Amino acid sequence: MKRITLAFAMAAVLTGTGLAQTFETIKLLPHSTERGGNLMQAFQHRASEREYGVTDLTLQDLSDLLWAANGINRPESNKRTAPTAQNKQEISLYVVKYEGAYRYDAQTNVLEPVTAGDHRAIVADRQEFAQFAPVILVIVGDYSVFPAERNMALVDAGYVSQNIYLFCAGNGMSTVARGTMKTDELAEILKLPEGQRPILNHPVGYRK
Ligand SMILES: Cc1cc2nc3c(=O)[nH]c(=O)nc-3n(C[C@H](O)[C@H](O)[C@H](O)COP(=O)(O)O)c2cc1C
Repeated sequence: MKRITLAFAMAAVLTGTGLAQTFETIKLLPHSTERGGNLMQAFQHRASEREYGVTDLTLQDLSDLLWAANGINRPESNKRTAPTAQNKQEISLYVVKYEGAYRYDAQTNVLEPVTAGDHRAIVADRQEFAQFAPVILVIVGDYSVFPAERNMALVDAGYVSQNIYLFCAGNGMSTVARGTMKTDELAEILKLPEGQRPILNHPVGYRK
């Protein structure tokens, strides 16, 4: 069984649709607002889905997914597609893929390499279905920017999560919000500074 899943994972890598498998900075493409269909249809299709096609996301799809999740939509004020309490912008996005873990830099529109290697099993934890998604987004919050008795990082992470759900629903992709993950190990892999913690993760792949 393990051998079959490994073969499956390798197939996922080999059938990738053009994103480099080398571990280096990925320059994302400008986002497209001419896609995604109808918002009401995205609400209609929004659902937690736990099966993913093995094909890697195209660079355009990955770029648009990240922008929709938490990109800058008003450059003049540096504000984003997801709101944050007091505009603290304490949410960061990481991308865990076969070749390594990256940090999404919304300002420069790149994925910065953080740690090489396939760490998807650490994110999947006991839910094996997540391990072979071509992309896993990790939503990280900086808890240190709010007082403990009124910490809004968990709330703010929820908006990013819903953006991911709606983008996937409108663009032929599957995802699920997951609190399950090996949080401490993942924090190390992502080299998170003191005060920052992974809150949710989203495996993403093309709808099967
Ligand atoms: C904060 C949060 C954490 C979740 N964690 C997990 C998880 O660890 N694993 C999982 O399979 N689903 C997880 N889910 C998905 C829920 O199980 C799912 O949203 C729920 O069953 C309702 O299904 P729906 O999203 O299709 O409406 C989580 C959802 C939320 C909002």
